[in-house]
Amino acid sequence: MADQLTILGLESSCDDTAAAVVRQRADDRPEILASVVKGQGELHAAYGGIVPEIAARAHAERLDLCVTEALSVSGLTLRQMDAVAVTAGPGLIGGVLAGVMCAKGIAAGAGLPLVAVNHLAGHALTPRLTDGLAFPYLILLVSGGHCQLLEVRGAEAFHRLGGTIDDAPGEAFDKVARLLGLPQPGGPSVEREAAAGDPARFDFPRPLLDRAGCDMSFSGLKTAVLRARDRLVAQQGGLTRADRADLCAGFQAAVAEVLAEKTRRALHAHLAQTPAAPSLAVAGGVAANATIRTAIERVARDVGARFVAPPLALCTDNAAMIAWAGLELYRAGRRDGMELAARPRWPLDPGRAGLLGGGRKGAKA
Ligand code: KG4
Ligand code: ZN
Repeated sequence: MADQLTILGLESSCDDTAAAVVRQRADDRPEILASVVKGQGELHAAYGGIVPEIAARAHAERLDLCVTEALSVSGLTLRQMDAVAVTAGPGLIGGVLAGVMCAKGIAAGAGLPLVAVNHLAGHALTPRLTDGLAFPYLILLVSGGHCQLLEVRGAEAFHRLGGTIDDAPGEAFDKVARLLGLPQPGGPSVEREAAAGDPARFDFPRPLLDRAGCDMSFSGLKTAVLRARDRLVAQQGGLTRADRADLCAGFQAAVAEVLAEKTRRALHAHLAQTPAAPSLAVAGGVAANATIRTAIERVARDVGARFVAPPLALCTDNAAMIAWAGLELYRAGRRDGMELAARPRWPLDPGRAGLLGGGRKGAKA
């Protein structure tokens, strides 16, 4: 039994402004008392990508609204919080700064301790909030901005087994959708088209599958889709509905196969270290894809590992995960001061930092 803790969390590292209140009760059970997320899709739609300055301004304008709403939903006041946790990186620097400044203001004004959270640690620790997973476990983070295989050994101990060296998978889905004239976000559109397609018609590459290790690459796959599209357009003057469906199905099958095989390798490496009661978790927007999720679940099942996929609202960017990670850090004794700086780059596993890829949403992949 530990003391009850209640943490206010803030997230603003990409294009979602979020605030949440998370409590761990005296019986250890975590509870999300409020989780407010305001997306910025409409602000960036006309630009075909996230404009960092627009994102930062929107975060600065909306953070207090999100905090007020989260407190009101939780029925609590700032005085009832034990600390304020904030994403201090990695991400788009203007947005991260907006969050850090807001959190500092709240901490100073309400006399609360401040806890800096790594955004990726927020994602990586979510299965403990949702499913009570014990350390260590393996997690695949797959979204528009991330692609990493991490062994989570503790709230501040992460071992990166691999990740993308270029695009994140969600980014590749979004680009493929754009190439085929499908609406954004591309993942759900491509998945919808792929349902009627033949995944075997196009012989798309499986990048880096022939190379040892757990690193991945998705940008060549997107180019292969572009070439196949251009060939069809040159031959027929356009694409039929069936062409589009087959291109989507072939692309999706290639992404699923690469993710599953690299996850299988990482799980074997993890099992060699932790043979008892292994667990594999998946998080990120791309985990919503049924083909990909099923492929990853099969990898876990094949070796008898527990498979955990948190609900989608907690897999995509949110502040409950930041509040929870902050809570774990607070329990471990972490406190940050007013000198806390926003960090555009902040690798979880500094030993493997050199392998980090870029990614549409900043250096997070
Ligand atoms: O985690 P998320 O909401 O935001 C970040 O990227 O941080 O993930 C969004 C990404 C987008 O690239 C979107 O196209 C992709 O996840 N996505 C999907 C699916 N749903 C969302 N990708 C493949 N299949 C889906 N069903
Ligand atoms: Zn994220």
